[in-house]
Amino acid sequence: MSDWIKACSVDEVGEGQLFSFDHKDKRILLANLKGKFFATDLICTHAEADLSTGFLTDEGVRCPLHLSVFNLENGKPQNPPADEPLKTYTVKIQQNEIYVEI
Ligand code: FES
Repeated sequence: MSDWIKACSVDEVGEGQLFSFDHKDKRILLANLKGKFFATDLICTHAEADLSTGFLTDEGVRCPLHLSVFNLENGKPQNPPADEPLKTYTVKIQQNEIYVEI
C-alpha cells in the first residue's frame, strides 16, 4: 500500500535545485528539472553518497562522489560506475505543495 507524503512547498525547490527529506526509514531526493518535479531515492546505488549534494544536469542528477548520472524519469544510471537504478517515485502538486507517493 502506498501513501502520499507531503514533502515541502513548491517554492522550496527552485528550478535547477535539489532537496531532500526523510519519511520513516526512507530518504528521498526531490529535483526540479526545468520546472518539472521528480522524486527518487536520496542515496546513490553505488557507494551510498547523498545525491542532494550532487548536481542537476539536463541528463539527470550527477552523484558527487564518482559522477554517475541518474535519469530522473526511470532512475537508470547513464554512465559507470553505478549500475543499479535508483528507485523513483510519483510526484504530484496540490495547492502549491509537493507530494510524493511512497
Ligand atoms: S557513490 Fe555515486 S557513483 Fe559512486
